[in-house]
Amino acid sequence: MRNVLVIGGSGFIGSNLIRKLNQKGESVTSFDLHHTDYPVEGVKYMSGDFFDDENLERALDGIDAVYHCLSTVNPGNSNIRFMQGYARDFVQSVHLFDLCIKRGIKVIFLSSGGTIYGIQNEQPIREDAECKPINHYGSVKLCIESVMRTFNTQTHSNMLIARISNPYGPGQDFHKGVGFVDAAVKKTLSHEPIEIWGDGTVIRDYIYIDDVVEMLYALLDYNGEQEVFNVSSNEGISLNQVIECLRKLGYTPKVQYKDSRSVDVPAVVLDNEKIRMVYTGPLTSFQEGLAKYTDYLQHNGWEKSQDQE
Ligand SMILES: NC(=O)c1ccc[n+]([C@@H]2O[C@H](COP(=O)([O-])OP(=O)(O)OC[C@H]3O[C@@H](n4cnc5c(N)ncnc54)[C@H](O)[C@@H]3O)[C@@H](O)[C@H]2O)c1
Repeated sequence: MRNVLVIGGSGFIGSNLIRKLNQKGESVTSFDLHHTDYPVEGVKYMSGDFFDDENLERALDGIDAVYHCLSTVNPGNSNIRFMQGYARDFVQSVHLFDLCIKRGIKVIFLSSGGTIYGIQNEQPIREDAECKPINHYGSVKLCIESVMRTFNTQTHSNMLIARISNPYGPGQDFHKGVGFVDAAVKKTLSHEPIEIWGDGTVIRDYIYIDDVVEMLYALLDYNGEQEVFNVSSNEGISLNQVIECLRKLGYTPKVQYKDSRSVDVPAVVLDNEKIRMVYTGPLTSFQEGLAKYTDYLQHNGWEKSQDQE
């Protein structure tokens, strides 16, 4: 059993990861500004601010491994709030890595495969493709990754980078600025129109959250030479195909097409060969994941709670 700290443990990915780590028998501490609405039995919850050095140092006491699952900017707002990304997220991440190296703590950083590569002709995109982010969110991630690589070279630490594609599933909230599948499913269930920027041909690599956390968990035991892993399904699905898959499940989504946005890369499909050497378990197909997520929302009263608002 290892003592694992999840920074951003009340968030979408963090909360799912905590559940997985707990199931696998790890001793888990969640560190977040906010309390979770769904605490997991056996998990220790610490409220604290990542940007408060004392809080952060206290959270690291007795810890063997850290998952860094926190970003205060997202692809939609980072072109306005870019200084927050560079001055706060970037600087404090460097501080975290330094603390972890000095204490011999393993680090797994959640980067963004969906934005860090930018526009690429060759798909699926391999980890060794040149990164050309088209928004500051991706650029902040690239800066953080770059420091990790420098630390790894200088100190022989083995910090790992997980470039996640487009996760979806329980715990997501598209109001935070990302999550087309989440928006499409929830709007369909509440009979609202789904907004699509552009003609719906934009392609993404959607991955069910259970698969993401299985892959992230597998990285905890990884001690090889690799630093960077795409965490992805390796399958490209267009926005229009998402709508089609909802129809196949028997729903009647309504769609409103709007002008395309400059923050959207036309196609991102991430090669997952590397992570599949580390995580060899089954993956959820998109149609299956969508069915699981719609079932989950309906069984958890999501539709009902919306109707009551
Ligand atoms: N969701 C995605 O589509 C996606 C894709 C690729 C990578 N990522 C990355 O994965 C990580 C987690 O993403 P997510 O979607 O779970 O985000 P999220 O916004 O759902 O969760 C982030 C959590 O961090 C917490 N937090 C924010 N500021 C804090 C602070 N100062 N101190 C302590 N806690 C603080 C929030 O309360 C929240 O619970 C992020 O680094 C994100 O960039 C997310």
